[in-house]
Amino acid sequence: MSKQILVLGSINVDHVLQVDRFPKSGQTVTGTSYGTMSGGKGANQAVACARLGGNTHMLASIGQDDFGRDIVQQLSDEGIDTSAIIEVDGADTGVALIFVNAKGENMIGIAAGANSCLTEAFVDQNGQLVKDVDYLLLQQEVPDSVNLQAVHIARKHKTTVVLNPAPGSDLPESFLLLVDLITPNQTEAEILTGIKVTGLESAAVAAAILHDKGINNVVITMGCNGAYVSSMESGYPRGILIPGFPVKAVDTTAAGDTFNGALLVALAEGKPLVDAAFFANASAGLSVMRSGSQSSIPYRFEVEQFIQCDQEIAAAASSPHL
Ligand code: RIB
Repeated sequence: MSKQILVLGSINVDHVLQVDRFPKSGQTVTGTSYGTMSGGKGANQAVACARLGGNTHMLASIGQDDFGRDIVQQLSDEGIDTSAIIEVDGADTGVALIFVNAKGENMIGIAAGANSCLTEAFVDQNGQLVKDVDYLLLQQEVPDSVNLQAVHIARKHKTTVVLNPAPGSDLPESFLLLVDLITPNQTEAEILTGIKVTGLESAAVAAAILHDKGINNVVITMGCNGAYVSSMESGYPRGILIPGFPVKAVDTTAAGDTFNGALLVALAEGKPLVDAAFFANASAGLSVMRSGSQSSIPYRFEVEQFIQCDQEIAAAASSPHL
């Protein structure tokens, strides 16, 4: 039976405004287009897992509204097991307000809503699910105490714990110690280590600090520059930069979520971490060429075609001209 992935995390309704450039403080800008779509780092990562072929479950909460119910239906239609998603009385489904500029960069503000209502007791009620799965994938859009409770259960039952520390805040050492694999971006790596990650060398230093905190495997995502993968498997840190795919970014929203979902699927299939990061780079590369959050997440066949096409171009470029 294929390995099971449990995503514990947020569900949001994303309100997305495309702008030429971000407003300055006190400034009003007129957008070029506006839409609402399904989002939340947890839900996006679950969708990425499912579209890329992972056996996916989600532990989450929505508010007492049709926005949340519609998203849960969509998650179910994606093939995700949504039986552990609850509706919180009196709460609203989480909301994200997102600006996307002409360079594809984003600025996001969140009203956590029902995501902040998840409790340790709810995790305990779903303890069997945490025990039964092979991988637990976490982000930081639900209370830290909830994540910690799930991690305690996971560690007791050999469920591998993967933390995507987004949107990024300082985390207690006692929590980090229990994480098997951490996947910060450059900003999040700096928050956790104090090291400004600008390239290979600084990524290696930041990864070493995270290893010192007790985390055996570290993947630092560096946008179009790829991902720095570092592991303590041989007893000492060994790192390598897995280059990104050269793409024209339209919208980077959910690129990190796509990366994490893809990484987990590849690991669940038994791929080594370095190969999983390559697959995740390709998946995230495809996602930034499209607009939106869940709407940008590719399907497995698309990623496979993209990798094949990239390899054919590389082979043609290196072959001698006639
Ligand atoms: O990572 C992108 C996501 O961050 C958006 O979908 C938004 O909901 C916020 O959670």
